[in-house]
Amino acid sequence: MSGVSKTFRRREGGEHLALSAIDLAVAEGEFVSILGPSGCGKSTLLYMLGGFVAPSSGSIRVGDRPVTGPGPDRGPVFQEFALFPWKTVLGNVAYGLREQGVARVAAEARARALIAQVGLKDYETFYPKELSGGMKQRVAIARTLAYDPAILLMDEPFGALDAHTRTRLQNDLLSLWERDRKTVLFVTHSVDEAVFLSDRVVVMSRSPGRIKADVTIDLPRPRRRADLLLDARYQRHVIDLERLIDDAPDVGVRP
Ligand SMILES: Nc1ncnc2c1ncn2[C@@H]1O[C@H](COP(=O)(O)OP(=O)(O)OP(=O)(O)O)[C@@H](O)[C@H]1O
Ligand SMILES: [Mg+2]
Repeated sequence: MSGVSKTFRRREGGEHLALSAIDLAVAEGEFVSILGPSGCGKSTLLYMLGGFVAPSSGSIRVGDRPVTGPGPDRGPVFQEFALFPWKTVLGNVAYGLREQGVARVAAEARARALIAQVGLKDYETFYPKELSGGMKQRVAIARTLAYDPAILLMDEPFGALDAHTRTRLQNDLLSLWERDRKTVLFVTHSVDEAVFLSDRVVVMSRSPGRIKADVTIDLPRPRRRADLLLDARYQRHVIDLERLIDDAPDVGVRP
């Protein structure tokens, strides 16, 4: 993203500058988290990368192609994109592949493999209403992984989950990522989660959203939560990031 700004028109008139002068480069295979106060434009940033919302100025590129709309190279995992309630787990996960013209047998075979990967092997025939929140979130992730996007755009995918399920899904996501090395943009409110998962954490400031810090997380991989909690570098990152988010004046901006 280069010089990206987003202005929304207010319904009562006037304009709201939601994001201002965002320069963000993410390398292929990198795991980058975005932290920032509510309303600073994190979701808007992901929507723009996804091609669902157009920037007001600036440009967005994936590889050497400008982003002009959604595409199979960028897989959204957004809470707003609910599962189809009338389709089973298998139907939901196979859906994107069927849409892409993959034959039913092949689509379902791939869907089954992904469902097993996210730990829902016995739930293929269940409907969303028969699943817990964490299970639905797993289905949503499998559904996006099914069409193998190079880039995952994840907007607080674990936000609504209990601590235990959240930890499990974080571990699952990390092992998937360590295997496939997809590029991940991951929005979260949890400093802890951001440090645990990421290569880099981008901190945004309050409205208009700007990037106020870009912190490299130099912790070795594969990461194990239990080990990290005792690691002084991990603790240092968490403390530093908490301070940055704490509405202090902007510091540490990368030129
Ligand atoms: N479609 C829209 N029309 C008008 N204003 C919008 C629209 N989408 C977002 N905004 C405004 O842009 C700002 C950023 O919203 P956004 O949802 O990106 O924030 P966020 O950082 O994701 O917040 P949260 O952490 O609460 O999810 C907010 O002030 C919001 O009111
Ligand atoms: Mg949001």
